[in-house]
Amino acid sequence: MLKKIKVEELVLGMYFAGFDDAAWMNHPFWKNKFLIKNPNELKQARASGIAYCWIDTAKGKDVVAPEEDEDGAPDEPAATAAAAAAPEPATPALDPALVDAQKLCETAKKATQAMFAEVRMGKVLDMERCVSVVEEIANSVLQNPNALVSVVRLKLADEYTYLHSVAVCALMVALGRTLGMDETSCREAGLGGFLHDIGKAFIPHDILNKPGKLTEEEFAIVRKHPELGHKYLSQDTNVPDYARDVCLHHHEKIDGNGYPENLRGATISLYARMAAICDVYDALTSERRYKHAWDPAEAISSMATWTGHFDRAMFLAFVKTLGIYPVGSIVKLESGRSGFVIRQNDKDLTRPVLKVFNYNNDRGVSDTEILDLLATPNADNIVARGGEEWARLSHLDAMQLLSTRALS
Ligand SMILES: [Fe+2]
Ligand SMILES: [Fe+2]
Repeated sequence: MLKKIKVEELVLGMYFAGFDDAAWMNHPFWKNKFLIKNPNELKQARASGIAYCWIDTAKGKDVVAPEEDEDGAPDEPAATAAAAAAPEPATPALDPALVDAQKLCETAKKATQAMFAEVRMGKVLDMERCVSVVEEIANSVLQNPNALVSVVRLKLADEYTYLHSVAVCALMVALGRTLGMDETSCREAGLGGFLHDIGKAFIPHDILNKPGKLTEEEFAIVRKHPELGHKYLSQDTNVPDYARDVCLHHHEKIDGNGYPENLRGATISLYARMAAICDVYDALTSERRYKHAWDPAEAISSMATWTGHFDRAMFLAFVKTLGIYPVGSIVKLESGRSGFVIRQNDKDLTRPVLKVFNYNNDRGVSDTEILDLLATPNADNIVARGGEEWARLSHLDAMQLLSTRALS
């Protein structure tokens, strides 16, 4: 039987069954469930700063029942223990890093909407506000590379224009970090990403949001956005050169077949080469009016086959940043179960940490356990990406799997 107790009540011989806190992503153990045999494990649990945890009393020691007073009423600690043993709350705990990322997404989306509206009205860009939004995005990514990147991917089709700028900004910062750039360069890359599609403010709304395939003429109009954006940014001396460059060249390809200038290889700037990768990844993995979002692992795997499009070394750094199975991907396991990727294992990108889940048509998803494929090499293996689970998982289901701790 699962029982919730204070972390300080843990003793040797208890069967630890998880922390009762959204901080599970940062908890100190490789394993999520185990018999506590080592005093160091107790020390680590207490040093985690997490208040409550779960134990399985069928598999290990229970808490010692406290003595009753003369009224037969339990004393203070027992009352606490009894309350703690109450049924699990209906609403699972949310990971605070992801809650913060959601809030930041919302703020950044509003700022981007306002920016696009001002650009459409012919106003000068509020660079101070852009820099401050990028600053917040960069701080979030540099602190926790996965949270914002994972949350911003789960955008709805009609939020795409605005959250795409936020997503590319976040991905640029994360990639810059992998490439060993200093914080200033990461922020510069982020600003380039944030402004890269500003030229879309000059493209008619009905073309940008057309639900179906674009005609040749419409596509030619959309392809003007890098030059339109560059022209607009060039009117403002406050916009740094590198941001103008990313805006003009993020659709160039390494083999010279991109647009608008057919640049090739290293003649394309570093930030623009980074933007080309981040831009395509976010476009593929986002829900659009004319297509469903791709599974992130599917997108990585497909982009890896596009010869001539991306800077190869940079693409490999991008894969190192997000993983072969980025957070939010769904994998099919050898056992037949499905897993939702919640964390990378840097030592082996082929064995991430998963939430094994079930899909129920009436109730959506329910997660059953956290499975660290690297820590438990014999537990299971990934045999395929995505699969039918990807098609039926809603944004809400994905957000739930992403942001709630596993209960089992
Ligand atoms: Fe673009
Ligand atoms: Fe873009």
